[in-house]
Amino acid sequence: MFSTKIAGIGHYVPERIVTNHELSKFMDTTDEWIQERTGIKERRYGKKHKETTTTMAAEAAQVAIKRAGIDKNDVDFIIFATLSPDYYFPGCGVLLQREMGITNSACGALDIRNQCSGFIYALSIADQFIKTGVYKNILVVGSEMHSMGLDFTTTGRNVTVIFGDGAGAAVLQASSVEGKGILTTKLHADGTHAEMLSFINPGCHGGYYDQELEKFGYPDVEFGGLFITQKMLDDHMTFPYMDGQFVFKLAVQKFPEVILEALNSVGLSKSDINMLIPHQANLRISQFVQRSLGLKDEQVWNNIQKYGNTTAASIPIALSEAWEAGKINEGDLVCLAAFGSGFTWGSAVIRW
Ligand code: ACO
Repeated sequence: MFSTKIAGIGHYVPERIVTNHELSKFMDTTDEWIQERTGIKERRYGKKHKETTTTMAAEAAQVAIKRAGIDKNDVDFIIFATLSPDYYFPGCGVLLQREMGITNSACGALDIRNQCSGFIYALSIADQFIKTGVYKNILVVGSEMHSMGLDFTTTGRNVTVIFGDGAGAAVLQASSVEGKGILTTKLHADGTHAEMLSFINPGCHGGYYDQELEKFGYPDVEFGGLFITQKMLDDHMTFPYMDGQFVFKLAVQKFPEVILEALNSVGLSKSDINMLIPHQANLRISQFVQRSLGLKDEQVWNNIQKYGNTTAASIPIALSEAWEAGKINEGDLVCLAAFGSGFTWGSAVIRW
């Protein structure tokens, strides 16, 4: 049995910086409101029609592959986490394979739809394949081009100001050094409140979620034509929805829980953490988690101020940045944790 190590990590964020002030030209919001509630000062938006979730992922992946010291055709499995794919189908995994010119058709490609916890889920799946010797080099990617799917009117302001674009990637390999690499991953899900943080149209449910159907009446069409309707467009129902306070309350409970669960399962405690990389949901959530675990500022990596919430990309971007800044060194205990839509949440404990 091998353990799994992160052999290379990389990230990419688009050049275009969008400040809070710029957003306030499109919707009724202010820099003060956004910073106070979320900590976000600015975010990046990809170049419309030039950049996509896949092209940004390729940029990040090239860096990770180079740092791992392998050739792109050594990649034998791709796991791609995103909630903002280029196409409804096929998934971004195969698009990334094509974009990067990976010609090895023995390389499988899998898409993960676990939103904010997508990268942790992807890491956990990769870990199982590496430990069992099925694959040698797995490319795990989180990438999001949120800016193409947000509501830039005041109706969508509570969601739109939070999200940004970017990508992060890691190459996972077997490690022969005992006690190094991914020590454990923990995954959780509870679909009870699936719509509390959701992007439900278009979808095969044929329109609004149940409460809305009851309110507006079921559309008078027997087959087809319901995937996307004029009414959905008119009602701003083709954008993400979030009950912010509901999400906040659960997030601050689940983050510490899942971090401690992972640490306890490998006989470690919060005092062993060298670097916590939380999913960059909201600076207030990360600060709450930091306080509840009694960690110092230098033990928690925050970059939401610059990039907003990049969902599946946020952990690998933060991990790559922290590593580049020399804040993650050989032997350090790194803890990753996420909570998000689904709800799904998870954590990973890694001995670097
Ligand atoms: N600018 C100005 N005013 C706004 C904005 C905005 N961008 N968005 C909402 N408001 C208004 C609301 O309309 C409301 O006005 P009203 O009182 O007249 O009705 C008022 O501000 C308060 O709205 P709330 O939603 O109650 O604001 P809250 O203080 O809860 O802050 C926020 C909203 C920032 C979303 C908060 O709930 C939060 O951080 N929740 C956590 C959710 C989160 O982090 N999600 C990230 C994605 S999920 C994840 O990654 C885990």
